[in-house]
Amino acid sequence: MTQETKSPVRQVDNCRVCGGTDWQQVVSFGPLPLANSFLEPGSPDEEPRFPLGVMSCRDCRLMTLTHTVDPEVLYRTYYYVTSDSQTISQHMRYVADLCIERFALTEGSFVVEMGSNTGQQLAAFQDSGMRTLGVDPARSLAAVANERGVETLPDFFAADTARRIVKEYGRAQLILGRHVFAHIDDVAEIAVGVRELLEPSGVFAVEVPYALDMLERNEFDTVYHEHLSYYAVDTFATLFERHGLRVVDVERVAVHGGSVIVFVSRDDAPWEPRPVVAELRQLERESGLFEDSTYEEFARRVDHIRDTLPPLVRGLVADGKRVAGYGAPAKGSTMVGVCGLDAKDLEFCLDTTDLKQGRLQPGSRVPVHSPEQAAQNPPDYYLLFAWNYTNEILAKERAFLENGGRFIVPVPEPRIVSLADLDG
Ligand code: TMP
Ligand code: ZN
Repeated sequence: MTQETKSPVRQVDNCRVCGGTDWQQVVSFGPLPLANSFLEPGSPDEEPRFPLGVMSCRDCRLMTLTHTVDPEVLYRTYYYVTSDSQTISQHMRYVADLCIERFALTEGSFVVEMGSNTGQQLAAFQDSGMRTLGVDPARSLAAVANERGVETLPDFFAADTARRIVKEYGRAQLILGRHVFAHIDDVAEIAVGVRELLEPSGVFAVEVPYALDMLERNEFDTVYHEHLSYYAVDTFATLFERHGLRVVDVERVAVHGGSVIVFVSRDDAPWEPRPVVAELRQLERESGLFEDSTYEEFARRVDHIRDTLPPLVRGLVADGKRVAGYGAPAKGSTMVGVCGLDAKDLEFCLDTTDLKQGRLQPGSRVPVHSPEQAAQNPPDYYLLFAWNYTNEILAKERAFLENGGRFIVPVPEPRIVSLADLDG
C-alpha cells in the first residue's frame, strides 16, 4: 500500500474491562453521524457516518459500542458545554458536599477532575475552600475554565498526566470523573493513573449513567459515539480490582436518566466498603444483568419505540399539527437517527446553547432555534429530546402547556403530556 491513511474507526475485539471476547450483540443502529457535530446550514449532503452498535461482554457484562472513533476526531474541537440547567447546578453542589462529608475532605484538600469541561464542578469545590486542578482535552473548554479561575490542563487524563500532576502539584485527596468514564477506551491506563495520583487514603469518584437504569427505562438514546461503555457496579468492581483499587461506596442519583456515583479507593486504604456496594451487585444479578434475555428484551423494547414514535409524530403532522424538538442534546441525534425523523417531521429544535443555535441537528438537519425564536411561533407539540430534565422543563414551560401545548416524552415509551397530566 502506498498511501495509507489511518482509519478513525476501530472495531472492538477484547473487552476493555476484563479482556474477554465472548460478546452478545445487543443493538445495531447502523452508520450514524457524530451526535454533537451540529452542521452549518448549507453543509454538504454527506456527513461522515460511523457504525453505532452495542454489545455486552458475557464475562463481566460491560456494555460497549461495537466500534470506537478516534478521540482526536471526537474531542479536539468539541462543542459540548456542561449544562447550566438548574438540575445540574444543584447536582454539582450535591456531589461536592457528598464527597466532602463521606470522605472527610477539609479546606485545602487537593481535588483533580478529569474531563472537567468549563470548570463548573470544580468551582463548587473551590467554594468549599479546596485546591483544584482540571484536566480536559478540549482546548477551547480548558481556556474557558482557566479564565474563570479554575486551573485546567488542556490534556487527556492518562498515566503520564497523573505522574506530572504528582510532581508539580502533589497527590490528590479526591479525583473526580463525572460523565467522562464512559468516554474512555483504555480504562486500564486511567486506573493506573488514578492509583498513582491518589493519596493513600484518597478517593476516586466516578459518575456514569447506570446500566441498570438505562436497560430498565429503555434509554437507548444514551448510545452515541462518545459513550463507549455502559457500566454496572459489578463491572466497575471487576475493573478496579484488577488494578489494586476497590469500590467502597455507591450513590444512585437521578441525573441523566439515572446515574451512579461509584467511589473507589486504593485496596490498602482505610475505607471499608459500605453494604450498599454488595447490595447493588446483588440487585444487578437479580435484575438479570448477567443473562442474555435481559438484553434481548431491551432490544425488543427499543424496536418498539422505533416502530411507534415516527408514526405518532407523522400522524400529528398529517393532522395539521406542528411538531418541534425540545432541546438538541446528543441523545436527540441518536433518537432522530434511529427513528429516521427529519426536517419534514420536526420544524425546529429549541435549544438554549448558543453554539448550537443557527446550526442543524446532525443527521436530521432540523434547524436549532433559540428559545426566544421558538416562543414567537410555538408548535403544538414538543418532542422532548432533553427528557432527563423533564421536571425542570415542564415547570418552565407552564405557559406553553396552559395554551394547549403538549409534550411527547419518548422514553421509557412514547407518551403525550398535557397540562391535565401535570395537575391531575
Ligand atoms: P444534556 O442532557 O447533555 O445536558 O443536554 C441537554 C440539552 O438540552 C442542551 O443542549 C441544552 C438543552 N436544554 C434546553 O434547551 N432547555 C432546557 O431547559 C434544558 C434543561 C436543556
Ligand atoms: Zn468483560
